[in-house]
Amino acid sequence: MQIQHLKLLNFRNYERLEIDFGPAFNLIYGKNGMGKTNLIESIYVLALTKSFRGTVDKVVIMNNKELTRIEADIVQKRSNNFKLIITGDGKTAKINNNKVAKLSDYISMIGVILFNPGDLRIIKDSPSIRRKSLNVDISQLNNTYLKYLSSYNKILKQRNAYLKTMSINGLASTDYLDSLTEKMIGYGIKVFQERKKILELINLKIGKIYNSIMQQGSLTIEYESDYEGKNQDELFKLYKKNLKRDLFLGKTEMGIHKDDYIFSVDDKPLKDYGSEGQQKNAIIAYKFALIDIYKDYKGEMPILILDDLFSELDYEKINNILKLINDEMQILITTTEIDKIEEAIVNKAKKFYVNNGIIEEV
Ligand SMILES: Nc1ncnc2c1ncn2[C@@H]1O[C@H](COP(=O)(O)OP(=O)(O)OP(=O)(O)O)[C@@H](O)[C@H]1O
Ligand SMILES: [Mg+2]
Repeated sequence: MQIQHLKLLNFRNYERLEIDFGPAFNLIYGKNGMGKTNLIESIYVLALTKSFRGTVDKVVIMNNKELTRIEADIVQKRSNNFKLIITGDGKTAKINNNKVAKLSDYISMIGVILFNPGDLRIIKDSPSIRRKSLNVDISQLNNTYLKYLSSYNKILKQRNAYLKTMSINGLASTDYLDSLTEKMIGYGIKVFQERKKILELINLKIGKIYNSIMQQGSLTIEYESDYEGKNQDELFKLYKKNLKRDLFLGKTEMGIHKDDYIFSVDDKPLKDYGSEGQQKNAIIAYKFALIDIYKDYKGEMPILILDDLFSELDYEKINNILKLINDEMQILITTTEIDKIEEAIVNKAKKFYVNNGIIEEV
């Protein structure tokens, strides 16, 4: 998959922009605060309809403007024009000028795998950050996943509300609760199976990739879920057994909404033991594993975006990472430090210099 022509209107600090990316290596450089991240963010937002910065949608609209429009020609098995318009009231997506009825069907159509320094939170922060990130990754591979997940979450909410009603009103009959529990388990198992499958695939690939960057240490990823090794009946019995606790707390304490996964090097959790560089390269290895998996699932390469990859990494690691990139992949890299990249790579890249919302092809 390739992004060719990108056209922006009022996106962050870009009032109007039209650029053509190269089919392989694209290098976007410039000083701090000039718009490098904004540029690649626009592509991510076009693909996923939401920013990785975790802000409300309308923040990406240029200050004092009503709307932003992102438009790109993407070469997939055939060429398609994608357009996303965001206003203060909502968003509209169009493919080849036809309005998309449901955004959830649109989300998995442009494959983008992105690394941003904020991704370090995947290792450092709480399980909810990891679940969110995994949900985005899986939703790009399989668009029924989000449907199962949102059904699960909807029933979880109903179940929690009903638990509260039961304890306030002193209700004894659990018939309605049981029916909710049963439905919730059904969707939960689907989500669990998909997460397990993807994390196992990642685990098969991640060690080798990490090692080729770091030259030492064995990276693994381990999925932790209440649903592990249990079928529908066993889970139902467990929910029954935990009913008193759930009633007391007024919420469901067990389920895939508590899932987590742990990155370890040489069996030591990176969260507690890892250096900045180790943590960063673990995330990079994870992203490269995802690229492989994406290709196996979809039969084509996603677009790879590496935002500010180089800070904190030494010359050797940076260029080990760049060696992982093959010619059939389109890649966009942003940096303030072009001199950290081997000359041969710089020479074959298409280069863009970013200066305060204006981009110059070099
Ligand atoms: N909605 C907006 N409207 C106008 N300008 C914005 C908006 N949101 C952010 N900006 C501006 O965009 C600039 C930051 O751009 P960006 O994050 O792309 O920088 P960068 O080139 O990636 O810098 P760094 O090298 O520090 O990561 C800031 O000057 C900020 O004020
Ligand atoms: Mg930036």
